[in-house]
Amino acid sequence: MSARDPVDPRLEQAGASDDSLLTAHEKLLGRKPEDGAHYRLLPLALLFVFSGLIFYAGTYLNHFSGHYNAAIFDENAHPASTAAAVPKGDPMVIGKKNFELVCATCHQTTGLGVAGVYPPLAGSEWATGSEERVIRIVLYGLKGPIKVKGTDFNAAAMPAVGRVAGSGYNWSDDRIAAVLTYIRASFGNKASAITPEQVAAIHTKEGDRKEWSQDELLKIP
Ligand code: HEC
Repeated sequence: MSARDPVDPRLEQAGASDDSLLTAHEKLLGRKPEDGAHYRLLPLALLFVFSGLIFYAGTYLNHFSGHYNAAIFDENAHPASTAAAVPKGDPMVIGKKNFELVCATCHQTTGLGVAGVYPPLAGSEWATGSEERVIRIVLYGLKGPIKVKGTDFNAAAMPAVGRVAGSGYNWSDDRIAAVLTYIRASFGNKASAITPEQVAAIHTKEGDRKEWSQDELLKIP
């Protein structure tokens, strides 16, 4: 039995390579990481930017979601029926608001005016009479002597309120129609309503012009 026991070649291999393995590992362990080749954490500034964007988007959706509510959303809603359910602005309400905003400064909220300066609208033959005249007065203004309910006024001028040259107000025809409807049916007055179409027709017909005088108005029926 001189022959040596055959050695398992794997053992030999393992023994022989121990050194080389160790040096190889040492090399690997000792290696310094290369600059620029490693991962960095997300820069802190970017984190703030993204958080800010998410917060902004949330607020935006909240504001501009058109009151969308998943709980009450009706995908079969008919747009026409929704529109019909919303009433068009009541001229008496819009008229009152606008009257109090501008006209009441001079004619007072009571429509009684100020004696000797601002004529009354309550019971006034101008306010409740010819639609043609009263529309013109408010569109273009009024200047010079005028008799209202038997009293002469000539202390101040009535400004042009319409969307006409030289007007400081530039009210739309709709707005004027509403305010006229209001003054003709308030303060005890009971005259007909004025439509935006009536105001628009006179506006188109007269174009731009200066304020009216009583004499000019009296020539219009
Ligand atoms: C800056 C004051 C002033 C404002 C604002 C004003 N008015 Fe007048 N208004 C007058 C004066 C002054 C007269 C009379 C003018 C004259 O003497 O020629 C008058 C006359 C009138 C008349 C004819 C006379 C009468 O009493 O019926 C009507 C109608 C009228 N205004 C309606 C309005 C309406 C409606 C508004 C608001 C859209 C308005 N006024 C805003 C001062 C004003």
